[in-house]
Amino acid sequence: MSNLKISYRCPSNIALIKYWGKKAEGIQLPANASISLTLSDLYAETTISAVDGNISGKPSFSLLLDGKPKKSFETKIQHFLERIWDQYSIVREMHLQIETSNNFPHGTGIASSAAGFGALALCISELEEEYTNGKYKHTVENASKIARLGSGSACRSVFGKPAVWGKHEYFDKSSDEYAIEFDYEIAFPLNQLNDAVLIIDAGEKTVSSSEGHGLLSGNPYAEARYKSATANLSKIAEALKKGNIHHFIHIVESEALQLHAMMMLSNPYYILMRPGTLAVIEKIWKFREQTGLPVMFTLDAGANVHVLYPDEYTEQIVNFIENELLLFCQNRTYLRSRTGRGPEKLTN
Ligand code: PMV
Repeated sequence: MSNLKISYRCPSNIALIKYWGKKAEGIQLPANASISLTLSDLYAETTISAVDGNISGKPSFSLLLDGKPKKSFETKIQHFLERIWDQYSIVREMHLQIETSNNFPHGTGIASSAAGFGALALCISELEEEYTNGKYKHTVENASKIARLGSGSACRSVFGKPAVWGKHEYFDKSSDEYAIEFDYEIAFPLNQLNDAVLIIDAGEKTVSSSEGHGLLSGNPYAEARYKSATANLSKIAEALKKGNIHHFIHIVESEALQLHAMMMLSNPYYILMRPGTLAVIEKIWKFREQTGLPVMFTLDAGANVHVLYPDEYTEQIVNFIENELLLFCQNRTYLRSRTGRGPEKLTN
């Protein structure tokens, strides 16, 4: 009779170069390579207790999100466990009691799947090593690989440093199957970025990310977008190495707008930005022009705005946000996070 238990905390991430579109072949492989920052202060905590006795021939698990069952997340986890069934004996042979929670409020429109699947993947990978007495080796690469099968962008959440996912000529060790750490020294002031997430619209998205990815297949503009993202990844790598914040801002904002442009260029077309999103973008541009301070925005597949800025300007930027941007936020809500601290194991 075995009974194994493990807990992990895993942060969310925000892409600078966006993954938007999947390869036609394989499972959850990106059409272009992407890079993200780890949002250290916005994370999921997950505990898995694995108990003997799954003889059902299919994944057996229970799920509590913040202490309560959650049907939509349950379906995602079911698919995820089916995908890793063949490789993970712990999934085939044990019943998994999964308890998870996020430290950021629900219903903010912040994607919790990257943090959630990152934490789940780390737990499963490490439990498998224990269960197989080391025949399977838990590595961050393996955890990233399985996180990807839950949610593509989750594979970048298992690192502290910026993470690169997708084969790209700039990074020898890069792969479509898992993310790797950005393996170069990052120069000041880009080595200490902060993110303030402005909650513009906390509602359900009208088009989910997986539908959005799907709408790129057969889209005549998709190839041009993939080429642009590929070129932008080399450029942002150079900017990070040199600490060239002006180039960095230009690439980051262009990527955010290209992501949303692809939504408008899809068939059916759709818009996930809200009037508040545009108002905030304009305010940021004006503030930057007037003050010369290096503050910029990026966007996820939603209406919320991520405001990025180097640590040393925190006071000025937080004042700017609180005085000029909060009126565009739902319930005046925004969440602050530093970047760069990765996952943490919470039990022995
Ligand atoms: O991981 P998914 O399938 O939720 O897709 C995420 C896509 C973006 O967040 C828009 C971009 C990215 O690279 O994270």
